[in-house]
Amino acid sequence: MSDFKKIKNKLIDIIPSELFHLNSKLTHSNFQFYDQVIRVQTDPAIKKIITIAYKKYPCSQKIPLNTNFNSSKKSFDEIIQTRHSIRTFDKRPISLDDVSKLLYYANGVTGKNTDDDNILHYFRTSPSAGGLHPIEIYLIAINVDGLTPGIYHYSPMENVLETVSDQNPSEKLNDITFNQTSNISAVLVLTGIPGKSRFKYGERGYRFMMLEGGHISQNILLSANSLDLASYPIGGFVDDDLDELIGINGVDEVSLYMLMIGTKLKNTQSSKPKVKTSLK
Ligand SMILES: Cc1cc2nc3c(=O)[nH]c(=O)nc-3n(C[C@H](O)[C@H](O)[C@H](O)COP(=O)(O)O)c2cc1C
Repeated sequence: MSDFKKIKNKLIDIIPSELFHLNSKLTHSNFQFYDQVIRVQTDPAIKKIITIAYKKYPCSQKIPLNTNFNSSKKSFDEIIQTRHSIRTFDKRPISLDDVSKLLYYANGVTGKNTDDDNILHYFRTSPSAGGLHPIEIYLIAINVDGLTPGIYHYSPMENVLETVSDQNPSEKLNDITFNQTSNISAVLVLTGIPGKSRFKYGERGYRFMMLEGGHISQNILLSANSLDLASYPIGGFVDDDLDELIGINGVDEVSLYMLMIGTKLKNTQSSKPKVKTSLK
């Protein structure tokens, strides 16, 4: 085979995700990468922008959320050991207090301090590479006590819901998820703003964004279990339709993951681990 044909065949074999992974690898000689990371980390003007660069809906109606939660009756060990996906739900609504806890524990602000340049930094329940926080959270409310069905954006800085749309999303949601929404009370949709991580970390920023979505999702699923709610994650949805439903353009901000939340059926097994673990 000629060299030309060999190269051509090799190019045809390329899988875009493998190529992306190769292009986002770090080596000892990624000098441009390290220069940019240090610049962003040390320039006070950039650091200041990062602190205030969060998504806002200034003209929306705001619904305050609670942070004064009751402690879970379940222990931390029990919450982790008994988490599992539950896909059948009761018709009962979930409460706004439950929604408050799910959102606050997902990625809420738990404290703040100032650095040597007197720039404010916030502590959050979920880690984020460089504190850039590229993940946004939307609530699709279907059956939440005290909340009109519709789409809401979670503002962690103000701990409020911002109304995006008060159109009932039930029918569209069913279509978007290939009919996976029967008796669902609420969906938390995680989106990502790739540019927020990319401007500091280049191609590697995309990896970080996805990893951060995973951190937040696990917080949500464990919080749901701590509240004795049923939940499961969905990666199988029609992206463009979900983007349209929550009002994002699918390029600068992209849908990543859906976390379905509902009340448990009365006869749902009170989930003891099936296998005895070393903790017991
Ligand atoms: C990235 C990802 C995508 C998923 N997408 C779906 C989905 O579209 N529909 C669904 O019913 N479950 C989905 N799941 C849930 C898995 O099927 C479930 O976690 C798996 O069966 C293990 O069960 P467990 O969650 O009870 O441990 C998804 C899970 C992950 C991690």
